[in-house]
Amino acid sequence: MSRDIRNICCIGAGYVGGPTMAVIADRCPEIEVRVVDLNAARIAAWNAADLSGLPVYEPGLDAIVGRCRGRNLSFSTAVDEAIAAADMVFLSVNTPTKQRGVGAGQASDLRWVEACARQVATMARGHTIVVEKSTLPVRTAATIQAILSAAQQEAGNTTFSVLSNPEFLAEGTAIRDLEEPDRVLVGGEDPDSIEALTAIYARWVPRERILTTNLWSSELSKLSANAVLAQRVSSINSIAAFCEATGADVQEVALAIGSDSRIGPGFLQAGPGFGGSCFQKDILNLAYLCESFGLPEVAAYWRAVVELNTWQQHRIARLVVGKLFNTVTAKRIGILGFAFKADTNDTRQSAAIRICRDLLEEGAHLQIFDPKVSPEQMAVDLGLAASPDLAVPDGQGSWQAVHSLEAAAEQVDALLLLTEWRQFRAIDWQAVAQRMRRPAWVFDARAVTDGAAVAAAGLHLWRVGKG
Ligand code: UDX
Ligand code: UDX
Repeated sequence: MSRDIRNICCIGAGYVGGPTMAVIADRCPEIEVRVVDLNAARIAAWNAADLSGLPVYEPGLDAIVGRCRGRNLSFSTAVDEAIAAADMVFLSVNTPTKQRGVGAGQASDLRWVEACARQVATMARGHTIVVEKSTLPVRTAATIQAILSAAQQEAGNTTFSVLSNPEFLAEGTAIRDLEEPDRVLVGGEDPDSIEALTAIYARWVPRERILTTNLWSSELSKLSANAVLAQRVSSINSIAAFCEATGADVQEVALAIGSDSRIGPGFLQAGPGFGGSCFQKDILNLAYLCESFGLPEVAAYWRAVVELNTWQQHRIARLVVGKLFNTVTAKRIGILGFAFKADTNDTRQSAAIRICRDLLEEGAHLQIFDPKVSPEQMAVDLGLAASPDLAVPDGQGSWQAVHSLEAAAEQVDALLLLTEWRQFRAIDWQAVAQRMRRPAWVFDARAVTDGAAVAAAGLHLWRVGKG
């Protein structure tokens, strides 16, 4: 018997939970979708009348929330009630890298997932399907199952089954990725539960794109997919450095190798190093798990992907200092882009953080412009309050957020492009050059600028991967 899902609860109204539930509510109007979160401020933002104030910026998300909220999509802090009403509970809470104790800096911190499993165990009524949406270490489902089956034995009238349904959406394209996924992965043991979840996705995803596996394969596929994607970025970034040293152009190399159908063109764009909440965390977690299963060589292999990435970020900061006559102390530098990629307000693990911190350490004055990132977020990430007029004691680094590209260019010795926002692709370099102090540099860590236009404006240009 296939289980008919009428009520869904999603714990965690973040970058994953919010957009995923919005699309499910949109595609399944007869299912009541309740998104709950402990963070009252975040929930208030999801309920904001002005849809431009949603806590997650994703193209297309506001329209979906606009038509579903109040119909079959709600956001609240009433976690217990939502669990009690649900036939299916998604766990979409964060699983950051552990900061202390065993596995610090590598293992995932599972305290919130465990806490949620316990809460579900206490509050659920009848049969409840628990879906792991958060990226989790392999075999976490066993932990969740153990907690739930203890509750099942105690209460007697509640039953559970656990599924793994990892999210592959990328930020900035979350809605498209959810509406037209390459594949949906459902891992589990109970065929009825698998079919219940599959039937939800099948409302808009062709059945052949919904893959079913066992729980462990599903959990491991998520970590592996992110590791392989990150590995491609580190591979091309390593080649970029080599191109710069030899006179090759990494974009030409990427085109040449990506045209091989066995390799493919995706994820070969050289840049300042990958960021985002997942890649580093998942690789470190994968490496940690490999080590704990007695595979130190495998762990070292994957760790090198992260080490190359960190090196690339420091390398770019060092290179900027080098080109600016080996000192940036008291020099103004404009930073174009702070988000970890375009079309998102997310700065988690953004390359901009490490690069800006390095430049601040060298005593630079940064004028940072990002169309979506708030100055408050920048201050948290940089670990330093803004200095509105950049007036600080001699030799110390400082920064301020500015509201336009023009303001970022004012009186600077260099512009450093770190996020590939569309508006940075079509800059009027003649106009911008007027505002800069000569000799002036453009450092394009995303290789998106028009090199000829930069040169015609009398500016020096460094582009990632171009010798
Ligand atoms: C998170 C994980 O980081 C990722 O690994 C996973 O694949 C999906 O979930 P994301 O949605 O980006 O990704 O995280 P975040 O934006 O931090 O949202 C998590 C939300 O869960 C937060 O709003 C937090 O307040 C909430 N939460 C956390 C709870 O409601 N209860 C808890 O016990 C813990
Ligand atoms: C990633 C995975 O793509 C997604 O499937 C998973 O669910 C979560 O993690 P996300 O972190 O949102 O998604 O963004 P992604 O587009 O993968 O980019 C990650 C980082 O790699 C960004 O900093 C991006 O700028 C960088 N990147 C990506 C490159 O530098 N070059 C590329 O060619 C591609």
